[in-house]
Amino acid sequence: MLSTKSFPVIEATLPIIAERISSITPNFYNRLFAAHPELLNGIFSRSNQKNGTQQQALAGSIAVFATYLVKHPGVTPETMLARVAHKHTSLGVIEEQYPIVYKHLFDAIAEDLGDALTPEIAEAWTEVYWLMAHALIKIEKGLYAQQANAEIYTPWKLVERTETGVDSVSFSFEPADDTPATVAKPGQFISVRMPMADGVRQVRQYTLSGDIEQANRRTITVKLDVNGEFSPVIHNDLKLGDVLELSNPYGDLVIDEEGAPLVIATAGIGCTPSAAALQTLAARGSNRKVTVLHADQEVGAWPLREQMLDSIAKLPQATLGTWFERGELPEELNAKAGYMDLTDALAEDAEVYLCGPLPFMHAVRSQALEAGIPAERIHYEVFGPDVWLAA
Ligand code: HEM
Repeated sequence: MLSTKSFPVIEATLPIIAERISSITPNFYNRLFAAHPELLNGIFSRSNQKNGTQQQALAGSIAVFATYLVKHPGVTPETMLARVAHKHTSLGVIEEQYPIVYKHLFDAIAEDLGDALTPEIAEAWTEVYWLMAHALIKIEKGLYAQQANAEIYTPWKLVERTETGVDSVSFSFEPADDTPATVAKPGQFISVRMPMADGVRQVRQYTLSGDIEQANRRTITVKLDVNGEFSPVIHNDLKLGDVLELSNPYGDLVIDEEGAPLVIATAGIGCTPSAAALQTLAARGSNRKVTVLHADQEVGAWPLREQMLDSIAKLPQATLGTWFERGELPEELNAKAGYMDLTDALAEDAEVYLCGPLPFMHAVRSQALEAGIPAERIHYEVFGPDVWLAA
């Protein structure tokens, strides 16, 4: 909780800090990477660095955190902290790095605000930074401790690759050494680290799309982004038998086999977490009521379609609805033309999980809220930095 001394200072300076974040951020990263160039080799994504909005996620989240402390004294934004902590642990962020980020962030703030940054303001924002940092460090230590090993990355070998949908491929890996592997939960993701053509290592997070219950197998499904840096390498250069680095599984958007009626609404490659969840529910003989809703450009573009239909067939209380922008609308898929519409799908006590592109999630989340589902029962997974949260 913010001290009584800092509270009014933060309240008064929030608008100016929030407004300056976009100019503070590039300066912060320039300073950070000048002092620690190693952070650009295997930790920070250089694609995100090129994208101004995504670059702002880290510093922006401190302003979001401060807003929260001012609006809800005594409460911390658990969902946001958990999301960041899971991302950090999948990248191997450690406690010793927090003073480094602090130094360069606050040097950038000092330069940006100049004389406007009084000692009183600097002290109040330092308090916010460390409140957030300590909350993150605590969650991150707990997450590391839950793993079956103390490694950040271990080597895994590509053993299977299967084309699915359009431009998507499932890759399955098995351990390439004898480090004990953590059993994942459906909905979790791993970091994948690989050297790019110039030798610089890059990292991406991918949701596990199947084989969840087998600790010694990790399966991810990757959509090709021809303009991206990472997916073309994994699609075109990775051969069976190749070894790359995978992190332990992280992510708190986990779906249980018991509980309130479940509505899983996805679009495009956003179906990967739900495909894993449905497969796991089916394997565990779950009797949970599940409504599976998927939107895609056309039937053939739907990745993991066979796996999902197979799981749905095994779940006694599962129903399916689909929406396609073009092409055939198969009756057995309960298909409709156009964009997803949740209006008839929502029981009042439903637990809703969303995953897909941001515009899709904005639209579907609004529909769920309008239908009377409280915000805390609407869960979502954003692929890439959560600029939605930071906004
Ligand atoms: C990502 C916040 C400290 C490394 C992020 C994200 C946020 C964030 C909001 C985006 C998460 C998402 O994808 O949705 C913070 C805050 C910190 C902090 C508030 C301090 C209080 C650190 C430290 C490191 C670090 C000490 C280690 C050097 C990273 C990396 C990413 C990340 C590598 C992924 C960014 C990318 O590749 O684009 N952090 N962070 N962070 N953070 Fe932190």
